[in-house]
Amino acid sequence: MDELAPAFPPEFRWGVATAAYQIEGAWNADGKGPSNWDTRAHRPGGLAGGATGDVACDHYHRTAEDLDLLAGLGVDSYRFSVSWPRVQPTGRGRWNGRGVAFYDRLLDGLLARGIEPMLTVYHWDHPQPIEDAGGWAGRDTAARFADYAEGLAVRFGDRVTRWITVNEPLSVVHDGMAGLPTASARGHGLRVAHHLLLGHGLAVPRLRAHAPAGEIGISLNLAGTTPATEGPEDVAAAARAEAYEDRLFLDPLLRGDYPHLDGRPVIEAGDADRATIAAPLDFLGVNWYAPARIAASASGVFGYTRVPVPGASTNLLGWPVAPETFGALLAWLRAAYPDLPPIHVTENGFPGLDEPDGTGPVHDPRRIAYLRACLRQVHAALEAGSDIRGYHVWSLLDNLEWDHGYRPRFGLAHVDFTTLARTPKASYRWYRQVIAAHRGAGTGRDGKERACSG
Ligand code: FCB
Repeated sequence: MDELAPAFPPEFRWGVATAAYQIEGAWNADGKGPSNWDTRAHRPGGLAGGATGDVACDHYHRTAEDLDLLAGLGVDSYRFSVSWPRVQPTGRGRWNGRGVAFYDRLLDGLLARGIEPMLTVYHWDHPQPIEDAGGWAGRDTAARFADYAEGLAVRFGDRVTRWITVNEPLSVVHDGMAGLPTASARGHGLRVAHHLLLGHGLAVPRLRAHAPAGEIGISLNLAGTTPATEGPEDVAAAARAEAYEDRLFLDPLLRGDYPHLDGRPVIEAGDADRATIAAPLDFLGVNWYAPARIAASASGVFGYTRVPVPGASTNLLGWPVAPETFGALLAWLRAAYPDLPPIHVTENGFPGLDEPDGTGPVHDPRRIAYLRACLRQVHAALEAGSDIRGYHVWSLLDNLEWDHGYRPRFGLAHVDFTTLARTPKASYRWYRQVIAAHRGAGTGRDGKERACSG
């Protein structure tokens, strides 16, 4: 890869990504309200190993150190999310000045280091009162979300380069369906999907009005589906998976209508909602980790299930390690959506145990090999005609991996969750070199000098 870096276009953005609940901690500091994830983590049997986000990486109090880690990498772009209950504790009305001040400091720190802020409005944590009112199953949440997005644009619109409305709506849909009986899971999941998309669509013009210089997108987790066999049942199952996972979001966003199966839209929506959702986007965020190989299954809510990818190992989370298939998803997007906006890869990463052995930085060769292979795919897709503008590694730091707790580590920097010390891993050094090689090839985007510590 390192030899490939100079071949990326000069304006290509290199970045890393994080999310508020996974790193900030300070769960009840300075007027922050409780979120759905605070409540979930505090329930007995909540997250694996009894984990909570109460402290997490304590990024809230260690912002300066983390900004230096970013500067040391030499990234152009930093993707982070705002904790909705930190800035608007109850999800409607009053804003919390001390919470806003935290993001002011973060944004100013990024700009002082020449790093473009990419702000995710919603990365899964919402105020508990919103959850109590039904969360995304309720249509009103879309309106509350759009008000919240506008409030962010009013306060931060002068400094944010790129806005991402919603992170991985499909993950929110699946999360809400878990544990429900099949019949109600379907209806619930599709309702949640529609309201997330509606919230996105309502937010877009409000962001544009108050942050006219910002680019606006949404981040989807797209797998790229292939049938397990050429048999008609698996082929039909893969088409269903594509419709209920990838096209469920892409079609209404980019074509103004939900995908059709058996002659009917998978979600019946009125013209006004469909027009709202199809608000033009400046970019599409793509989060990619693994492909989906699909087989027919009567027990799956939508009649399909994921099966192992032949020849691929699996990672700590059981996901197939098949970076060479990333290009297939990018090629499918090119072919299926002629009006596709430019792409930013907004997440791509690899989980490991990454325990230090006392002999120096954590050695994480599997992460480096995976990221390098994915970047090769991005580069090949560029050559084949994809318009890909940037790439963000998930994640800057080891952090709270949602239900899985702290065991799976995704960071380029190791975090000791007892002392909270950050230590760059081998992958941090590798990524720094990739970025430096790109810049060293005389292709610096704007010739801007960057602080480079670490
Ligand atoms: C994605 C999430 C992100 C992180 C990675 C590993 O689905 O958006 O927060 O947990 O997976």
